[in-house]
Amino acid sequence: MPLSKQRALAEEMGLRNAIKKGPVIAVDGPAASGKGTIAQALASHFGLPHMDTGLLYRIVALNLWRWGGDAGNEFEALRACDDLGFDPDDEELRSEPVSKIASLISAYPSVRKALLKRQQDFAGQDGGAVLDGRDIGTVIAPDADVKLFVTASAEVRAERRLRELSGRAMTAHYEEVLADIVGRDARDSNREVAPLRPAADALLLDTSELDPEQAISKALRLAEERLARAEP
Ligand code: CDP
Repeated sequence: MPLSKQRALAEEMGLRNAIKKGPVIAVDGPAASGKGTIAQALASHFGLPHMDTGLLYRIVALNLWRWGGDAGNEFEALRACDDLGFDPDDEELRSEPVSKIASLISAYPSVRKALLKRQQDFAGQDGGAVLDGRDIGTVIAPDADVKLFVTASAEVRAERRLRELSGRAMTAHYEEVLADIVGRDARDSNREVAPLRPAADALLLDTSELDPEQAISKALRLAEERLARAEP
């Protein structure tokens, strides 16, 4: 029986404390690797809440952009963390300028610190959770039950991002998108605080040759196997 059903049943019977705390699943990886889609699928399969942690950095980036703040100034970036309210339908959140600012400001230790508790609280909730980002398995939830590190070649990721942008009627050119992805990879991987890298115990999933359905079913299988091994 899936965990979500077990939990619902136990709650119905007033046995909430008799079942094990829900699993924490960490999904990390670079831009457009497919980690968001995979994390959503894992969350719905296991009946867990999902947090897209990149969105937090994007909200901060959008605040800063709208105020005309300077992404090169850590203090201004930190001030942009004060208000994390956002409109989920705001197209600008996923725009290229905001993506670039998010990548820049996410290198600031004070910005990462300001967003840390919200992510750790989410990961620590009783029923378990799925979080996707860059440092979930290494910093936010180092004790996660399952850690996936999702990758794909930069070229494949640039093509995916291009399709995503044109699907939203945004014009973009392959060469520019590729350069942006390569630049973001370098910034995310080389920063001093919480760089993008797989945790030592992460399961690697290369999606370069997989369509979304194949990537999801492989991720589900890896997570099921890891969770089954962890059962007492
Ligand atoms: O969807 P995509 O992978 O392009 O980006 P995202 O996951 O929405 O993250 C936006 C930016 O936030 C990334 O370029 C990272 O620099 C940063 N980020 C981070 O530093 N740590 C996280 N846990 C999540 C995102």
